[in-house]
Amino acid sequence: MALLLILTISHADQSHGSSLKHGRSKPGYGRKSHGSVHGIKGHGSNGRHMGHGRNKPPRFNLPIISGPPLDLSPIIGPPSTPTPTTPSGLQVGFYKGLCPNKLVDIEAALTTKVQEHFRKDPSILPALLRMQFHDCFVHGCDASILINGLSSEKTAGPNLSVRGYDLIDALKDIAEAQCPGVVSCADIIAIATKEVLRMGGGPNYSIQTGRRDGLISRAQDVNLPSPFLTVSETISAFNAKKFTTEEIVILLGCHTVGVSSCGFFQDRLYQGTTQFDPIMDPTLRKQLMPICPKGTTANNSTFLDQNSQSSNIVDNSFFVQILEQRGILPIDQSLARDPKTVSFVKQFAQSASLFNSKLASAMVKLQALDVLTGSQGEIRKTCNRFN
Ligand code: HEM
Repeated sequence: MALLLILTISHADQSHGSSLKHGRSKPGYGRKSHGSVHGIKGHGSNGRHMGHGRNKPPRFNLPIISGPPLDLSPIIGPPSTPTPTTPSGLQVGFYKGLCPNKLVDIEAALTTKVQEHFRKDPSILPALLRMQFHDCFVHGCDASILINGLSSEKTAGPNLSVRGYDLIDALKDIAEAQCPGVVSCADIIAIATKEVLRMGGGPNYSIQTGRRDGLISRAQDVNLPSPFLTVSETISAFNAKKFTTEEIVILLGCHTVGVSSCGFFQDRLYQGTTQFDPIMDPTLRKQLMPICPKGTTANNSTFLDQNSQSSNIVDNSFFVQILEQRGILPIDQSLARDPKTVSFVKQFAQSASLFNSKLASAMVKLQALDVLTGSQGEIRKTCNRFN
């Protein structure tokens, strides 16, 4: 069942294909290999926000969500009591009655804080979505990305530009104050990601909880797919985690929000470079060239979804853009050209509601990837270090 979304957007300072300049470091992915590290220092864990440069961030009115709730019965079942567990061991409402004050609804308290944060800074949405993906793809959704240390996952190249750690810490403080030693950092990431996704116009699904925190966090294990891989290589990387080709297209549709720094698309702009893309929309190329001049290491960024009306909204316009040769990342553009993926891209470009409902299922699956449950792992006292 589709959500009815009434979106009112005010883009006071945004022009079509606009860019942002925020002092971001060079990308830290390998070019062909999965996640090889350039060893480039990033801007710190929390520093980067849209609008640090010449363009201010777009102003939002929040999407008003009305109509019946999304029907996800086939994947998560009704949020009734007792809540059913899934094969992953997670369940909706896991924390009910687990706090010292049994009446405390800790998930609701966390969700309220997330909502407050989103209203002040909507760029927390792309930040958390990316954090969730980078966490889940390395040792499962176990909050291993949060651990501080000289060679923890956080320090790996692709993670240097991951943001949102401050909010996770603030949420953990709330959890520990009301419900000490009970709520995992892995669940906090999941709850927060789910809520910002909904607030940004995405699906409203019931979040499953019961994850435990991992005991391993090593930069050397960060083996995320690079944006320079082919579609076939990307499919192999996701197949290894049991995602189908359709799910890959849906999850990459999360690039409907957020930004990419220059280094990931620079070569697509200039003739004679390894990635030059002759059929990129010429208007887009013209707009991107000053943001990312040839041979420079400009720290500028541009929106992954080049529809300026919805660059920060979870919708299907990303798919329309890539069909119009207006993708930013090489892998995003490739999805619309490869025979293995283009039919999915077309379906989602045509149907916002199809994308929305399939995104819900794909997110539930991503957030359940290789989770620790029961007596596995631990419940961290502080999210950035093991107990
Ligand atoms: C083959 C898989 C993927 C590749 C190669 C990839 C690559 C990238 C790259 C290169 C960036 C720009 C980073 C930067 O400039 O620092 C980015 C941003 C982003 N990615 Fe992905 N990504 C992939 C899958 C995903 C998935 C599955 C999700 C979500 C579930 C996701 C969500 C995001 C978001 C929201 C941003 C914007 C972040 C921000 O604005 O801070 N990506 N991705």
